[in-house]
Amino acid sequence: MIYMADTADLSALKELYDFFPLEGVTTNPTILKLSGMKLSAAVDELKKIVGEGMLHVQVMSQTCEDIVREAKKYKSYFDLGDNFYAKIPVMPEGFKAMRILKDSGIKVTATAIFTQQQALVASKAGADFVAPYVSRLDNISSHGIEVVSDIVKNMKEYGLNTKVLAASFKTVDQIHRVSMHGSHSATIGPDLLMQLIKHPMTDISIDKFTEDGEGLYDIEF
Ligand code: E4P
Repeated sequence: MIYMADTADLSALKELYDFFPLEGVTTNPTILKLSGMKLSAAVDELKKIVGEGMLHVQVMSQTCEDIVREAKKYKSYFDLGDNFYAKIPVMPEGFKAMRILKDSGIKVTATAIFTQQQALVASKAGADFVAPYVSRLDNISSHGIEVVSDIVKNMKEYGLNTKVLAASFKTVDQIHRVSMHGSHSATIGPDLLMQLIKHPMTDISIDKFTEDGEGLYDIEF
């Protein structure tokens, strides 16, 4: 599974990129607002952190023409080459723009997905990634994991190349379950990424090894 960080918190990202095998960062207008940075400054900083990784930047436009213009502008302005993904919400004008962008060589992440059909239509419109929102579904007494699982099945059954990018997580268990259902990727906030690799038994085991090995390791290195 491809891990991405769903944040523009630069210090948290620097800490994570130091050891976590992340392959990219996803942003949206809310994440940007939380960061306190404007888009150009945020992307400049994020580029330095992600290196050769993916950067998914959401468009704000609402019409096909504007979405296409906005995504094309970002693609050249941010100079990220193939690592740039235009995040486009699944709405009629968005679907139209996805096809045009795909045909002009710009990679697309379809976002704000809440149903399997939205994902399927986005995939057929050319999306490289489709992002279903797990917690937001769970919060309205729907079933985020099931939606992710159905989308994964559809992609396989119809032989589509689109990757599922499970998004909107509040618990480690949700992440565990989307990975067990074969989600190709997940974008996760910094706190949850840290929690993914934590277990109290690991800490206890490491402490015990450290204590027991004291004075026994006599080869200099
Ligand atoms: C990612 O693509 C989404 O924009 C994001 O995961 C939404 O997460 P939230 O529901 O925690 O805001």
